[in-house]
Amino acid sequence: MKKKLLSVILAVSMIATLMMGCGDTTEETTSTGEVAEEVTEEVAEEVTEEPAAEGEVQVGIVLPTKDEPRWLQDQAQFETILGDAGFSTQVLFSQGSSATEKTNVEALVAKGIKVLIICAQDGSAAAAAVESAKAAGVTVIAYDRLITGTDAVDYYVTFDSFAVGAAQGQYLVDNAPAGATGVPLYLYAGAATDNNAFIFFEGAWSVLQPKIADGTFVIANSSEATGLSATAALTRDEMGKIIGQITTDWDFNVAKSKAEAHLTAVGADMKGDVLVLAPNDGTARSIADVFGSDPDVASFVVTGQDSEIASVQYVIDGKQSMTVFKDTRTLAADSVAMAVSVLNGESVATDTTYNNGVIDVPAKQTAIVVVTKDNVQSALIDSEYYSADEFTGLN
Ligand code: BGC
Repeated sequence: MKKKLLSVILAVSMIATLMMGCGDTTEETTSTGEVAEEVTEEVAEEVTEEPAAEGEVQVGIVLPTKDEPRWLQDQAQFETILGDAGFSTQVLFSQGSSATEKTNVEALVAKGIKVLIICAQDGSAAAAAVESAKAAGVTVIAYDRLITGTDAVDYYVTFDSFAVGAAQGQYLVDNAPAGATGVPLYLYAGAATDNNAFIFFEGAWSVLQPKIADGTFVIANSSEATGLSATAALTRDEMGKIIGQITTDWDFNVAKSKAEAHLTAVGADMKGDVLVLAPNDGTARSIADVFGSDPDVASFVVTGQDSEIASVQYVIDGKQSMTVFKDTRTLAADSVAMAVSVLNGESVATDTTYNNGVIDVPAKQTAIVVVTKDNVQSALIDSEYYSADEFTGLN
């Protein structure tokens, strides 16, 4: 039964992908998808709960911002899967504000949601919002970003974020100038309010630190990281100090101005052939543009993640070295499967736990795929995540 349901949801998600690009970006959206009727009916049959009354919303979704393509990818998946699964659903965006996020949660609770799927703007500030939802009897699913410091999180659906960071670090190690020592390494991180930023950095550090400790790489832009270069496993506090220096706040403009300031501050010995740990695609493109326009940077290897269309094009064009494919179809489908179980009063399938400082949150984790110029076709086009005509120069 469960297997059948999951496969149906995955089938719906595949169709959802074909529709990507059709979804609007309005602040509030009630789902209407055009998924094949047959599949829709099958999923609807799985929801044994009574249909929602007029105006009632069963599943509320809160996403951090519509200003980053990453979250529009997730929105597109949700709208189609949930709407066509027979749920009444609503997606709201917090637009970078924890206060808006809390108002959004309260508005959804007032509409009678049974399940809240929330990607926190700020993992610790979101605790208050989910505590109020929980007090109203809502089941809370943290989506992609863990909500910390509270017991009001029932489940967590996530990608393997440590693996994301480790893959970024490994790419830099594998593509560093052969045989060179003292290779300049520029480190950048996500927002310190996002638990993922720590996990990504931890994964990257696990791979980069031995190369820093033995002198193969030299950190160009963080005195805190340089001071900790002999430490293999960093504490959260130590990571916090490093991230405090190299954070981009997940903001392209912050990434750009930091990269410019760093390149202005260093001498010629920190230019030439360099390596750049960029935490995600949006920041990678900004940083790549800055490094690409410095005449004293002979070459640079730069990481990313999310496989945003613009970055996949950068990868094809050789302007960004790699990205990480996080298949949002799977994450959305896993959340929907959880919501279905909750609405049907069934047990929820999880495969690991994440400690959020207060409890071990039962979690469902999804693997990631490294994407370079060599596998754009097989990873992103053949899997029907994107269509080839969204890119130029793909062969
Ligand atoms: C997500 C990334 C995203 C970043 C910025 C992280 O929590 O996991 O996919 O690029 O936030 O929005």
